[in-house]
Amino acid sequence: MMKPRVVVTRRWPAAVERILVERFDATLNTNDVPLGQDQIKAAFRDFDAILPTVSDKLPRDVFPDSDSRTRLIANYGVGFSHIDIDAARERDIVVTNTPGVLTDCTADIAMSLLLSVARRTGEGERQLRAGEWKGWCPTHMIGTKVSGKTLGIVGMGRIGKAMAQRAHFGFGMKIVFHNRSRVDDEETRAMGATQLATVEDVLAQADFVSLHCPGGAENRHLINASRLAAMKPGAFLINTARGDVVDEQALITALKDRLIAGAGLDVFAEEPKVPEALTRLENVVLLPHLGSATEETRVAMGMKAVDNLTAFFEGRTVPDRVV
Ligand code: DGY
Repeated sequence: MMKPRVVVTRRWPAAVERILVERFDATLNTNDVPLGQDQIKAAFRDFDAILPTVSDKLPRDVFPDSDSRTRLIANYGVGFSHIDIDAARERDIVVTNTPGVLTDCTADIAMSLLLSVARRTGEGERQLRAGEWKGWCPTHMIGTKVSGKTLGIVGMGRIGKAMAQRAHFGFGMKIVFHNRSRVDDEETRAMGATQLATVEDVLAQADFVSLHCPGGAENRHLINASRLAAMKPGAFLINTARGDVVDEQALITALKDRLIAGAGLDVFAEEPKVPEALTRLENVVLLPHLGSATEETRVAMGMKAVDNLTAFFEGRTVPDRVV
């Protein structure tokens, strides 16, 4: 029997690529240059499955009107706002993602950003490396205490809860959160976390606001100028979700005007472009989308995609189907 033809849009961990090559007629991207829109269009004609990731864009106009050989898009990553899922649904193309395996590592990065921006570790390291540190003194580089403060979570899914657990059990933080549907489970109760009706309610109480909701049209610029103004004056914003959830220009203004105290960002609206104005600010910590970037997690993400592909082509129920 012919093996399904699959195309991988970027380099994946070597252990996963080996399995892909064994099980499928896999075309790998050995030089790791992102595919252009024309190459993605052509892939729908030539491959049974496309294995994209967050650095690809699959808007409606790359989907073929007819003659799609592709029946499965197995995304490497949990977020899939870079794929037009309505266009996939209309063509009966199944879309899968890789949830669960990146929860801890993404929450770890959110917590590191929170600690770094509050305790000014980026600034401190830059000063030291530049040879500008004049020595210890009682007024040097004073930050904000984290322990015991209030953390506001926007989007209390797997990663939001993992972040809340770190903050509550590790740092004694009080947890408030907003989530569109009601969250009432043992994990959330154990943290004494309080669900609030609106994002504004969270902003009014939180010393730190951490975003864990999906990207895409529904949450575009959820944090805009008026919501930044509604944050407490000494508060910090942490974003490990998607860049487009925050209006970056409004954030830059709020940071410059000290409407909020600082921000820790792992994601940006136009990755890998980062607004130059952000890079010039001291009260931000900026990371190059490292949320899931550990050996264990990146391999596990690949294995989830392999499981989805294998189940699909064996005619079994696909574990992580989003469409
Ligand atoms: C995710 O899984 O969504 C991460 O942001 C990396 O893609």
